[in-house]
Amino acid sequence: MIRIAIDGPSGAGKSTLAKSLAARLGIIYVDTGALYRTVGYYVKTKGVDPKDSGAVEALLPEIKIELKYEAGMQYVYLNGENLGEKIRQPDISMYASAVSAIPAVRRFLLETQKSVARENSVVMDGRDIGTVIIPDADIKIFLTASDEVRARRRYNELLAKGMDVKYEDVLADMKERDARDRGRDIAPATPAPDAIILDNSDCTNEESVEDVISIIKEKLGDIII
Ligand code: DC
Repeated sequence: MIRIAIDGPSGAGKSTLAKSLAARLGIIYVDTGALYRTVGYYVKTKGVDPKDSGAVEALLPEIKIELKYEAGMQYVYLNGENLGEKIRQPDISMYASAVSAIPAVRRFLLETQKSVARENSVVMDGRDIGTVIIPDADIKIFLTASDEVRARRRYNELLAKGMDVKYEDVLADMKERDARDRGRDIAPATPAPDAIILDNSDCTNEESVEDVISIIKEKLGDIII
């Protein structure tokens, strides 16, 4: 079993890196942000304030989340429905960040994440993978980049999906979300003491993948296909 934890702020390129690594290693890629996004999505459809921890906690018994993996892709089901791109909207990012600061929500999603990592070789990305979900991961990477570079990447992604957004709004939203994710009391988005911190502001995706592959080879030997 190989377990690789990739943490870091939004827009650092975690999912691109994690997907490439998982494909090269022939193991599954687990996107844990999708779980918080799914809870955020449900909270929004119910018209509940995502910062109202009591009201959010009261909704949790109504939520059943399942993760499925097919051909290297992760699909998240909410009460039997595959939500697809619905959880990728900018307002759902804010809902996800707000609900992720609520201890009951983190407890609710803990076992789903731990069991995937227990039963499979994984590359898992999130905010607390190296600190909480897989504290004994073989490799822990904390991927980061400057605010402007991350916001520009996120802006380009949203434009490519046909969304009508302004760069300044994306930057402001990202800073607000990161400050909350980093500053929360429970499982804050900070590097594990044994994480390798990589700043990819000046790298292409391919260069970041190669950097991490070198780290893996150094630590685990020639397991890369
Ligand atoms: O990675 P993402 O942007 O899809 O994550 C959405 C939000 O979920 C993010 O703002 C913080 C939260 N999150 C978390 O608290 N812990 C994780 N392991 C993954 C995401």
